[in-house]
Amino acid sequence: MENQTRIPQHISIIMDGNGRWAKLRGKNRVEGHIEGVRSVREVVRAAADAGVRYLSLYAFSEENWNRPEQEVSALMELFAKSLLGEKQDLIENGVHLRVLGNRARLSAKLNALIDEVEEATEAGARITLILFVSYSGQWDILQASKKIAAKMAADPAFVPSADDFSAQLVTAGVPDPDLLIRTSGEERLSNYLLWQCAYTEFVFTDTLWPDFRKEALMEAIACYAQRDRRYGKIKT
Ligand code: IPE
Ligand code: IPE
Ligand code: MG
Repeated sequence: MENQTRIPQHISIIMDGNGRWAKLRGKNRVEGHIEGVRSVREVVRAAADAGVRYLSLYAFSEENWNRPEQEVSALMELFAKSLLGEKQDLIENGVHLRVLGNRARLSAKLNALIDEVEEATEAGARITLILFVSYSGQWDILQASKKIAAKMAADPAFVPSADDFSAQLVTAGVPDPDLLIRTSGEERLSNYLLWQCAYTEFVFTDTLWPDFRKEALMEAIACYAQRDRRYGKIKT
């Protein structure tokens, strides 16, 4: 029991450092992203084995659209290729895949592929894997605010609570992250889950994402297990 309570229910990761990993090896940045997909595969497996129920990964931010066109299109292609390549494996391993973010900015072809894999893995009960693509925390808060405003206009008696607001975010129904990991030595949120990380525990590691594998995940979980979560209260 003690052990169970110390495994975070939801781990979120800002996967950073692919470009630097490639540069250190004299390779193209895209090769860092390709190696990063291998880390994703290993970390999903390790998280499911550890009993984590939700693993969410920041794969592409709204701001990442401002990178050179060549890198953006390579990332979109890699994303599509990985979705297709991993589909069967996800199904066999009980992984329910969801993609959250500003889907309107993705190509029709990619959106169709995402729909297909989301549907095919819907019954996956071991772990939910959420990929945040074309996502930013401010975008999410803004789109939720517009929906709340419309509800208030339609019903003047409606006074929204924090829970009502959460229900309009793209993460509606997903528990807030217990643990947020950011790799590559950067210690910032970069417009990620701004609302949802209100009481999340943060672990920063210098490890670059392509080098982040099972052992690194278990280290971060061990670090989380030492934390004392108080939620503003006094420890009794
Ligand atoms: C993270 O690695 C992946 C994405 C943001 C898509 P980076 O591409 O940011 O790698 P660095 O930070 O330049 O090393
Ligand atoms: C954050 O990494 C976004 C993702 C990992 C998808 P960035 O590399 O884009 O963040 P900054 O620019 O260093 O803050
Ligand atoms: Mg980066």
